[in-house]
Amino acid sequence: MIDQPREINIQLMGKDYKVSSGLTIIAAIEYAGYKLVRGAGCRAGFCGACPTLYRRAGSHKLYTALACQTLAEDGMCLVQVPFVPVVRRPYDIEEVAPSANIILQYYPEVAACVSCNTCTRACPQGISVMDYIQTALRGDIEQTALLSFDCISCGICSSRCPADIKHYPVGQLARRIYSKYLLPRSSQLADRLDEMETEQCEVEVETMMHLSTEELRARYEQRSFETVAGRDQKHSAIQKWGTAVDPVDYRDEVEEVAY
Ligand code: SF4
Ligand code: SF4
Ligand code: FES
Repeated sequence: MIDQPREINIQLMGKDYKVSSGLTIIAAIEYAGYKLVRGAGCRAGFCGACPTLYRRAGSHKLYTALACQTLAEDGMCLVQVPFVPVVRRPYDIEEVAPSANIILQYYPEVAACVSCNTCTRACPQGISVMDYIQTALRGDIEQTALLSFDCISCGICSSRCPADIKHYPVGQLARRIYSKYLLPRSSQLADRLDEMETEQCEVEVETMMHLSTEELRARYEQRSFETVAGRDQKHSAIQKWGTAVDPVDYRDEVEEVAY
């Protein structure tokens, strides 16, 4: 077992603090006495509100991460990012036709991608961000929607892009067009909606209200997926479920510096 110090030293907005070890960055900031009224939300890696910028002791690099999903380390210098500005071009989804150049029409800047892959390396969700920008550029709405499915709109990719591309509205537009126009209608969903009109749904809900966490988890894991002819690719959230995912792997970026 590794001996961990009970306290670590961090720097927040230029001031030094001692905080308990084993805290996430967001918890460490609060432990130090700050009240977060911006840059915090779900605290569970879903809302994308907590991008953070930090340096590590002994490294000249600037790192990015979600503050609620990353442990504070001894020697970290931290600052919360208020938000990453994005460009949203208004559209009416009822009038956006799923044509090959539709994404380029709204977000022509994707053509400036220089394929450096910085966005992918920065993404805390482990998304192949560069790949979905490239599929968007090629007009492949389906692949753009599927590849960007797990995006939580944190904007970290956009904060690092040398071409100033604002990625997540691109994925969002593709997913909206895909679900409205291209995704085959789900018969299971239609059946379920019909059931909601009957008492059968209430009986099911009532049964579930009395199940234990383990029983609910077992049901979740045994759930079935609707398959569509010719489309066996499921979105990445399903593919990742139950696997150990560590999307933020900076091991290749942490240089071995001897001091
Ligand atoms: S960071 Fe920007 S330029 Fe680099 S691959 Fe991603 S989208 Fe393209
Ligand atoms: S694609 Fe960009 S905005 Fe979406 S989760 Fe990854 S870093 Fe955040
Ligand atoms: S607070 Fe929601 S993702 Fe971190």
